[in-house]
Formats: sequence, C-alpha cells, structure tokens
Amino acid sequence: MRAAAIIPAAGRGERMGAAIPKALTPLLGKPLLAWAVDALLESEAFSEVYVAVPAGKEDSFRGGLIEANPRVRFIAGGATRQESVANCLAEISAECDIVAVHDAARPLLTASICLDVLNRARETGAAIAAVPAKDTVKLCSEDGIVTDTPDRSRVWLVQTPQCFGRELLVSAHEKARAEGFVLATDDASLVERLGAPVSVVMGSYENIKVTTPEDLLVCEQILRKRRKEK
Ligand code: CTP
Ligand code: MG
Repeated sequence: MRAAAIIPAAGRGERMGAAIPKALTPLLGKPLLAWAVDALLESEAFSEVYVAVPAGKEDSFRGGLIEANPRVRFIAGGATRQESVANCLAEISAECDIVAVHDAARPLLTASICLDVLNRARETGAAIAAVPAKDTVKLCSEDGIVTDTPDRSRVWLVQTPQCFGRELLVSAHEKARAEGFVLATDDASLVERLGAPVSVVMGSYENIKVTTPEDLLVCEQILRKRRKEK
C-alpha cells in the first residue's frame, strides 16, 4: 500500500495579522511549512507529498524553502482549504491508495503520531488525530446565547493528520462539492457526510495549530524543550 500526503498551505493567515503568508512564518529560523513537510518525510511513510500553495506562488514557496526533494510537489491551491485539498487530491498517482492530510499550520507533528493515524486508517478507512477537550465546550446561537453544553468526556479537539482511503476521500470531496458544501474546516467532516465511520486516534497537546501570534511562542517553547530532551 502506497501512501500520499497533502499539505494545505495556501491560506492567507488573516488571524496572524502578518504581511507574509502564514505557511512561510519563521519558527526558530525555519518556516512553518518546512517543519510540517519534514515531519511527514521523517515518518518515511509517504512516496508523494503535495503542498497546496497560493496560485502563482509555486516558485516563491519552493525557492529556498525546502531542500529539493523529488517526492515534494507544489500545487496551486484554491480559495478555500477544501478546494486546496481537492486540487492536490486530483494529482495523486493511481498507485497511492491511502492519503494523509496535514495542515501547514501544525509544525509540531511527530512521525509517531503520523504513523499511528495512518495505520489506523489502513484498518478502518478513516482516522484522525485528536485530543480530549480540557475546557468545557458550549454551543451558542449567533447572538451569543448558550444553546447546549455537550458532555465534556465526549468532546475531542480535532487535529491533523487525518488519513483516509483515497477513494473514500475523493468520493467525500465530490459529494460535498456537488451539494454546494464548500467551507469544511477539515476533511473528516466531508467523510462524515458520506455516513462513513471516522476513528479517533490520540494526537498530542503539543501538536498545536498556529492561528494567532501567541501560538508561535508556545511552539518555540515546545521545540526548545524537545531539543533539550535529545
Ligand atoms: N488553507 C489552504 N487554502 C486556503 C485556506 C487555507 O490551503 N484557501 C490551509 C492553510 O494554509 C492552513 C490550513 O489550510 O495550513 C488550515 O487553515 P487555517 O489555519 O484557517 O489557515 P489560514 O486560512 O491561512 O488562516 P486564517 O483563517 O486566519 O486566514
Ligand atoms: Mg482559514
């Protein structure tokens, strides 16, 4: 079974509020995207890695960002994360029957979590990294009134990687697009719409998503700790 990885990296990073694209933001001197690519390559599980970048910026993302690696290809992303993933999905070669999707915004992925999720997806067809919620979660109406409090012991905060059988993920994207569902914030939600079961695998509280500037400070501390442990 050959596996491919997709890294959506074509977002603008509006919540970071910086002039450069979020995926190129330096973290201890290395861009977020490069941390994510390196973690996937380190797992040695992927024969192909597709990076969705802003259309027209393929060369500037490639240039100097990542050491030349024939397994890594840069693809023009779309206006939404969902479209960026779909554009990469269309390029994957026929021999790959399993696909991992991992956001460029999560630089602290370890090879071990990646392999755990991939292996579970090989068994079940669909698996995602997630961690149990520490905070109590409330659902609220648009005018800010609490409508429900889900039982915290059943609330998981979802991360990437998310891994799927290739045909399942392609069908999920096709169905969503046909139905006009275009703003998914993860791929599992598209697979759920097909009615297929998605397994949860323990991720890590360290596998954080960089969304706003203070997330970078946390990443730096975690990386310094990891360096000391080596
Ligand atoms: N992404 C993408 N294509 C888009 C939008 C997002 O490939 N059109 C990617 C981002 O680059 C990121 C991942 O999807 O790696 C998760 O999205 P998010 O964290 O929301 O990043 P941004 O969309 O860049 O940030 P913001 O929503 O603050 O603008
Ligand atoms: Mg976004």
